[in-house]
Amino acid sequence: MKLLKKGAEGDIYLTRFDNHTAILKTRKKKPYRHPQLDSRIRKQRTIRESSILSEAKSLGIRTPLVYQVNQNDCTILMQQINGILVRDLVGIKLESACVEIGKITATLHKSGIIHGDLTTSNFISYQNKIYAIDFGLAQKSVRTEDHAVDLRLFKEILGSAHVGVMDLLWKAFLKGYRSVVRPERFNKVLNHVGVIESRGRYARME
Ligand SMILES: Nc1ncnc2c1ncn2[C@@H]1O[C@H](COP(=O)(O)OP(=O)(O)O)[C@@H](O)[C@H]1O
Ligand SMILES: [Mg+2]
Repeated sequence: MKLLKKGAEGDIYLTRFDNHTAILKTRKKKPYRHPQLDSRIRKQRTIRESSILSEAKSLGIRTPLVYQVNQNDCTILMQQINGILVRDLVGIKLESACVEIGKITATLHKSGIIHGDLTTSNFISYQNKIYAIDFGLAQKSVRTEDHAVDLRLFKEILGSAHVGVMDLLWKAFLKGYRSVVRPERFNKVLNHVGVIESRGRYARME
C-alpha cells in the first residue's frame, strides 16, 4: 500500500481491489478526544461519507464507486479516479470545470445535501468529466443559509488558490449553479452569500 496523502482527518493510500487500483481513505484517532467519543465520531463520519458518496451517485453525480466500508477501522475503500485535480487545471479547462462544479453543487443542494468542503482539490477531471470526491464534511440541509455557506467557501478558496482568475471562475461556478436551480432559489442563495460577506466585513471592523 502506498501513502498518497497525509491529511488532518486521516491518510489516503493507493491500494488494489479486485484487480483495480483503489483508494483507501482512513480516519485517524484523535488523542485529545475521549476514546469512546472518538470512535463514535470517526465511525459516524465514515458511514456518512460513504452513504452520501453513494447518494450523490444516485443523483447522477460522478463519484468514486464505494467498494468497501469498514466501520471498525473507519476506512472507505473506493474506486480511484485517475485524473487531474481541478486545482491543477488551467485556462478554459479550469473554467468549464468550475461550471460543472456549480452544477454538481446545485444538484446536491436540490436534494438537501451540502458538500461542506467545496474546493478545487475535491474535484477530479477524468476524460473531460468532473468527479466529486471528499464528502467527509457533507451534511443534510435544505436551509438557504447552509447552502450559501457552501457557495461562500468555494468563492473564498478561489481567492486563495486561483487568485488572478477568481472573478472569472466564480462567474463560471454561478453559471453552472444557476442552470440547475429555479431562478428564485438562485437569487435567494446568492443574496445570502452577500449577507454572509457583509457580516464578515463588520466582524473585521470591530
Ligand atoms: N477516489 C479518489 N481517486 C483519486 N484520488 C483521490 C480519491 N480520493 C482522494 N484522492 C486524492 O487524495 C486527496 C485527499 O482526499 P480527500 O478525500 O479530499 O481527503 P481530505 O479530507 O484529506 O481532503 C484528494 O485531493 C485527491 O488528490
Ligand atoms: Mg479533500
